[in-house]
Amino acid sequence: MSTMDFNARLNQKAQFVDDLLRRLLASRQIESRLKESLSYTLGAPGKRLRSTLVLWCCELIGGQVNHNAEIAAASVEMVHTYSLVHDDLPAMDNDDLRRGLPTCHKAFDEATAILTGDALLTLAFEILAKETNDPAVAVKLISQLALDSGPSGMIAGQMADLKAEKVGGNKELLEYIHTNKTAKMFRCATAMGAICGGATDEQLQRLSEYGLKIGLGFQIADDILDVSASSEHLGKTAGKDAKAAKCTYPAIVGIEEARQLEKKLAEEAMAALIPFGRKADTLRQLAMALLKRTR
Ligand code: IPE
Ligand code: IPE
Ligand code: MG
Ligand code: MG
Ligand code: MG
Repeated sequence: MSTMDFNARLNQKAQFVDDLLRRLLASRQIESRLKESLSYTLGAPGKRLRSTLVLWCCELIGGQVNHNAEIAAASVEMVHTYSLVHDDLPAMDNDDLRRGLPTCHKAFDEATAILTGDALLTLAFEILAKETNDPAVAVKLISQLALDSGPSGMIAGQMADLKAEKVGGNKELLEYIHTNKTAKMFRCATAMGAICGGATDEQLQRLSEYGLKIGLGFQIADDILDVSASSEHLGKTAGKDAKAAKCTYPAIVGIEEARQLEKKLAEEAMAALIPFGRKADTLRQLAMALLKRTR
């Protein structure tokens, strides 16, 4: 394992993803306004966690990042960014601020934001189909991304999230919403990285489990930060969940229990990594770091 400290390794990967996205976009002929909105949203400073997970999981299994993992990482970041652009639309969460900048529909207009999301989603599948170098791997990656981002994953979670507004909910519904809207995209990232690295079924299953656990913990932390951090620090509007009467962990179980659950999920995520030994230390460090995140 690299001797560089964890945060430096995380930053290095995030920068790598920033460059990768810039290059992929620059190499395409895209209508000028759309290209501008795509550069704006993809170039805004996201944490690049899901794409970094693709790269780290490929490294864990295959020893290094390969070309397919780079394409997979970019595709995951595109789909995640699309989900944010649409999540922020007036018809959904109606947010003005994202990644420290005006949301896509504020910087441009609603129609452009809808089309920007559509473009990011389709571009993700285009690059998987066209730019990976092994058709069998491409089909696996495309299936995983479709499954986890679509109506059996993120979209199902977003629908349930909106339906639950003001109606309230219980722990079971909460787990369903958060697992689908957020944890499945984390699982998608770890599974795609594992696939690119040439994982066995057992390895794929374990990294998928790790992704689901940290992903659920990640959304619990997002809910807690919405009530405890400032908009300025988060780069997105704080305090929105209570106003919209969202079904969140702080609302349903309270902050203390939410924090306990987050810890339990991190432990379960790390338990899934046991067979990988020390080689999985970076993923362990990530699980621990997410417990302390402030944005
Ligand atoms: C925000 O995800 C949406 C959630 C699922 C909570 P991130 O917090 O990873 O957002 P970026 O990519 O860093 O902007
Ligand atoms: C978003 O959940 C999940 C997505 C699939 C985009 P939130 O609505 O809580 O995310 P933020 O707080 O706006 O980033
Ligand atoms: Mg939302
Ligand atoms: Mg939102
Ligand atoms: Mg939130």
